[in-house]
Amino acid sequence: MEILESKKPISWLDGVNVETGEIVQENHDLKGVSIAGKILKIPYSTGSTVGSYVFFGLKKNKKTPKKIVLEKSDSITFPAVLAGVEVEVLTKKAKLSPHSLRSLSNLPEEISSYLKIDCESNGGDELIPIASAHVSGVSYLTIKDYGLNFLRSLVGKGYKVKVLTTLNPAGMDLEDHLKQGIPTQFVEKQIEIINLFRKLGVISTCTCTPYLVGNCPLRGSSVSWSESSAVVYANSVLGLKTNREGGIKSLISAIAGVTPNYGMHKRENRVPKTKITLENRIKGYEYGLLGYWIGERFSGPVYIKEVSEADKDELKALGAAAAASGKLEMFYFKKEDVKDVSQELPQVKVGREELVEVKEKLSTVNGKPDLVALGCPHYSLKEILKVIELFRNRKTKVKGCRFHIYTNKANKVFLERNGLKEELGRKGVEIYSDTCMVTSPLKEIGYRVVGTDSSKAARYLKTFSKLEVILGNVEELVELATK
Ligand code: F3S
Repeated sequence: MEILESKKPISWLDGVNVETGEIVQENHDLKGVSIAGKILKIPYSTGSTVGSYVFFGLKKNKKTPKKIVLEKSDSITFPAVLAGVEVEVLTKKAKLSPHSLRSLSNLPEEISSYLKIDCESNGGDELIPIASAHVSGVSYLTIKDYGLNFLRSLVGKGYKVKVLTTLNPAGMDLEDHLKQGIPTQFVEKQIEIINLFRKLGVISTCTCTPYLVGNCPLRGSSVSWSESSAVVYANSVLGLKTNREGGIKSLISAIAGVTPNYGMHKRENRVPKTKITLENRIKGYEYGLLGYWIGERFSGPVYIKEVSEADKDELKALGAAAAASGKLEMFYFKKEDVKDVSQELPQVKVGREELVEVKEKLSTVNGKPDLVALGCPHYSLKEILKVIELFRNRKTKVKGCRFHIYTNKANKVFLERNGLKEELGRKGVEIYSDTCMVTSPLKEIGYRVVGTDSSKAARYLKTFSKLEVILGNVEELVELATK
């Protein structure tokens, strides 16, 4: 049997053609090669946590690899076993403790056997309770009919989640989808997906910032979250412990109420390995550029020396981009949190040149966009208030394009209640909740060029949505949209 081997990780969501099984990831040494029926050896996967659903698509098209061999544990690739793919992880194996085996005995067979094999194959010997779960893989655009069928099967078996479980953005605003221009057939599928999650007991928050809408357990708690930007934020800012879970894995953990104890749940894996020093002060969207640069180079925790003054929104942007360009799950930004690290950390310097390089790589065109799309990750109230201020300071309104801000439903209600949504509307700015620029079908609606301030969105708009991208700060984008 043919063996394909690469030292480069794969981003399943946008790096593989589900129809042909071909690797399409830019700059990948296996680009153009089909993985169907082969043994694929890679270090791990990167990018979106929705990638797990790709294996169901490959299975439907008879293009799954025979076996995947991973150097490191990776819960986005591991659910390939549910599509009949053998997965081997080249880490030390373990046996579940008798106590954990007993805790599995009350669970449905397919849930308990998945958790057992996932745990043991990744070197974990016990299952630990989780305080909450957060599930990605909600948009019909990303999970398609094969994801829908998977959810139907879980509901058909009567499964329910056992812990507080929130949901990532869908493919449309659940109320304002007509204004967004979402096609009818898409609306029907999306509503069915949301209803299936509700039947499983999942709260349809539909936001990638669950920590801003009540899913924020006490520091030190273990959780099972599968939105990569939220994972980095949880580990780095909220003091929670979670692996970068695939959407399927976090749903399984939510149904079981426990998760395997390996990876970021263990103290020894949370120790920083590198110190990153910034040569210049940065602000706003530049944190996303920095995160993207870091994520491309480091997969383990890093200490970033000069970002202790960043606000929470900037840390959110940094983590989101680092998880989009790579697999980073945690960074440190406070000196006191790394004071106990015994060894001298190797130091890496990042300057303006590196950030410009990221911006140039992610921007594909110049000029006027068809759409300015802000809110990846979902904008906080503070970020929206800044946009309101920028529009108050100018006489003109949005011309010759559309201007979207994506946020959580609670923020949208607050904006409505305070007359701010209407004020933005008069300037041509539309507020949407439950969805985002990547999970909604922008290309099908007819957009071609999207301006954004998010490095994560820029990456996926280019590689997943196949759109042209203008990446800039929010001031530049307001200027572009109003001139
Ligand atoms: Fe959130 Fe969509 Fe970005 S889910 S992190 S706004 S790609």
